[in-house]
Amino acid sequence: MNVALIGYGKMGKEIERLAKERNMNIVAKLNSQSTAISDDQLASIDVAVHFATPPTVLKHIEEWAAKKKHLVVGTTGWHNELEHVRKIVEHHKIGLVYASNFSIGVNIFRHVLQHAGKAFNKFAEYDVSIDETHHTQKLDSPSGTALTLARTLLDTVKRKTEIISTPPERKIEPHHLHIASKRIGTVVGTHRVVFESDADQIELIHTAKNRTGFALGALLAAEWVLDKKGLFTMDDVLGDILQ
Ligand SMILES: NC(=O)c1ccc[n+]([C@@H]2O[C@H](COP(=O)([O-])OP(=O)(O)OC[C@H]3O[C@@H](n4cnc5c(N)ncnc54)[C@H](OP(=O)(O)O)[C@@H]3O)[C@@H](O)[C@H]2O)c1
Repeated sequence: MNVALIGYGKMGKEIERLAKERNMNIVAKLNSQSTAISDDQLASIDVAVHFATPPTVLKHIEEWAAKKKHLVVGTTGWHNELEHVRKIVEHHKIGLVYASNFSIGVNIFRHVLQHAGKAFNKFAEYDVSIDETHHTQKLDSPSGTALTLARTLLDTVKRKTEIISTPPERKIEPHHLHIASKRIGTVVGTHRVVFESDADQIELIHTAKNRTGFALGALLAAEWVLDKKGLFTMDDVLGDILQ
């Protein structure tokens, strides 16, 4: 399988390292200074993997879909444009897998949270909040993963109907689901969900030790999407495993 890396930063380099171990070929590595690639190079590409910057992502999806290349998109910060992207994908008849977090561990974590949310939904004495910590170079806040976890909670804990990520300078309302973000040092990514009552506290924590989990998930998605058409998430890639 021949892969183009759009974005050759921390994630692009980790994907390259793992791709070599899996006998995949990285045939293009593009950063902000790259010029157009040759027609021969383009013809050889099976899938383009995007881990670049949020402002570049929609333009790149449009360009690469028009080139009829399958896409795996890890770059975050664009998911409010999902319906626009769905139209592009359907128009060009390509496959695109996106996820705010490609790591298998986080996807299992989200399923655990789904079950937990359904249970805590039955007990109004429990409040719930999310906090996330990342390195100081991270561009978006709250993290895409925190927002995905929050949406899972809105779907299951019915008394929570609105996500707030910057607490107003007054007390928050009971229907608010608060996400707190912290940026420090080189932390790869920690997400913590806390269910809290007068009697006890339950914490669910996912801590990424390095970028390997994200890169591995993205490569699994790249292999999976080769014979697909449409817009998919990691739920589709992991399929039956998470049922
Ligand atoms: N979904 C997931 O599982 C997951 C996991 C980790 C990170 N992420 C997300 O992935 C993205 C990248 O993360 P990172 O840690 O790899 O960031 P990074 O180290 O800052 O790398 C960003 C890369 O994007 C390149 N870039 C900027 N503009 C570009 C353009 N116009 N065309 C091509 N490349 C361009 C940069 O090139 P220059 O060096 O030339 O500026 C750099 O190589 C972020 O949005 C992050 O939140 C997602």
